[in-house]
Amino acid sequence: MAKSVLLIDDDDAFREVYHELLLDEGYVVHEARDVPTAKAAFAKHQPRLVVLDLMLPPSGSPTAGAALCDEFLSASPNCKIVTISGTGDTKIALSTVRRGAYDFLTKPIEPDVLFAILDRAQARFALEDRVESLEASLAAPADGSGLLGSSKTFLAARKLCEKAAPTDVPVLITGATGTGKEVIARHLHASSNRSEGPFVAINCGALNANLLESTLFGHKKGAFTGATQDSPGLFRAATGGTLFLDEIGDMDPALQVKLLRALETREVLAVGATEPTAIDIRLVSATHQPLPQRTTEGGFREDLYWRIRGIEVELPLLCERSGDLELLAQHFLNQARALIPGSAGATLSSDALRAMEAYGWPGNLRELRHEMQRGLVMAGTRSEILLSDLSPALRQVDAAITSRPQTLEAKIAALESSEIKAALEATSGNKSQAAERLGISRQGLLNKIARHGITP
Ligand SMILES: Nc1ncnc2c1ncn2[C@@H]1O[C@H](COP(=O)(O)OP(=O)(O)OP(=O)(O)O)[C@@H](O)[C@H]1O
Ligand SMILES: [Mg+2]
Repeated sequence: MAKSVLLIDDDDAFREVYHELLLDEGYVVHEARDVPTAKAAFAKHQPRLVVLDLMLPPSGSPTAGAALCDEFLSASPNCKIVTISGTGDTKIALSTVRRGAYDFLTKPIEPDVLFAILDRAQARFALEDRVESLEASLAAPADGSGLLGSSKTFLAARKLCEKAAPTDVPVLITGATGTGKEVIARHLHASSNRSEGPFVAINCGALNANLLESTLFGHKKGAFTGATQDSPGLFRAATGGTLFLDEIGDMDPALQVKLLRALETREVLAVGATEPTAIDIRLVSATHQPLPQRTTEGGFREDLYWRIRGIEVELPLLCERSGDLELLAQHFLNQARALIPGSAGATLSSDALRAMEAYGWPGNLRELRHEMQRGLVMAGTRSEILLSDLSPALRQVDAAITSRPQTLEAKIAALESSEIKAALEATSGNKSQAAERLGISRQGLLNKIARHGITP
């Protein structure tokens, strides 16, 4: 990924100089000169790295810059912000570091010092990316399957996967982003007769058609510039095991023809080769795209679609997995705790959970995993993750629930509960007297106390 930085400073000359210097260092540079343009640029470019002068118009006070720093960090906690202050404002710059800024500098800035800080931030990003990918591959719940969930919808998909596993029928796993397609593919392999063989995965959307062809089918030495030696290709690397073609919907149409041929003849022709070689793989594919629709639009070959879809396992959305949310949230919290140094291992407060239950989770399990990491970071040393620790999207959902008009029933219940509390208070908790005041029997009062969950 290209290195990019958002440079926020009202001093045009400073921005101009540093824009050039940062370009030379290989950065893509975005600029902003005051609070409103900084907010807009942050929302638009979602930078991981920000250089922020604290004295910004319109107010020109460093506290406005500090507030901006807080706002950026709350929207994206992994963002690294280097704050800059005038010589007299070291205190406030230091306070931004205490609140989560990555580092601070005071003007005048030494370019080498700034670049050393930015280099350190880049190294940190590389590490964080690696942790993220390792962590995703290590996501292993207690039963060793890598699969958590007991909702009906999820269990139906899991059962189908396990039924298909011992056969060599090609399986197509479908489901929106983050629903667990890769995890289910690995489970399928592990439950199959080929579990001793390799599981070889490739993302068809990540490579261009030529590269994907030689990666899948292999190539002969000298077949193209850079082909300095023979390469067997992934079809052969997966011999005796499972080949997982992830994001197959993104495959180039020209390559779709070659894939279809390979599956039909059970042979592949390496790039630059004249003789095909036999293959022995079980094919599992995945896509988040609606392939039937893509076949009618001509983006995906219909014959290939039927070929790869011996059995289709469709994964449910997180919001369709009734009852799984809390379990998965807890699992991701446990995982996140191991990654966050000094984390106390907070639990979810009831209003955080309420908002999570009502939220739609467009990013499904992956979004939930990130949200739990964020929650734990924001909770800091607190033992509970509060609603205010969650992302703005979740907080908005909660605001929508609480502002929903109350039903008549709910209004009556709330009124009854408050009358009972008042009567109990007036009689210092004496239930017989309170019941008398309210004009109901003592037993009737006890029932209502239990129903409303009123505690003495
Ligand atoms: N049943 C599950 N139990 C526990 N963790 C899960 C489960 N399913 C998925 N996960 C976790 O959720 C995240 C997303 O899963 P995965 O990468 O398999 O999704 P995907 O459908 O392939 O997503 P994308 O379409 O974005 O590639 C991963 O961190 C994975 O470990
Ligand atoms: Mg995936």
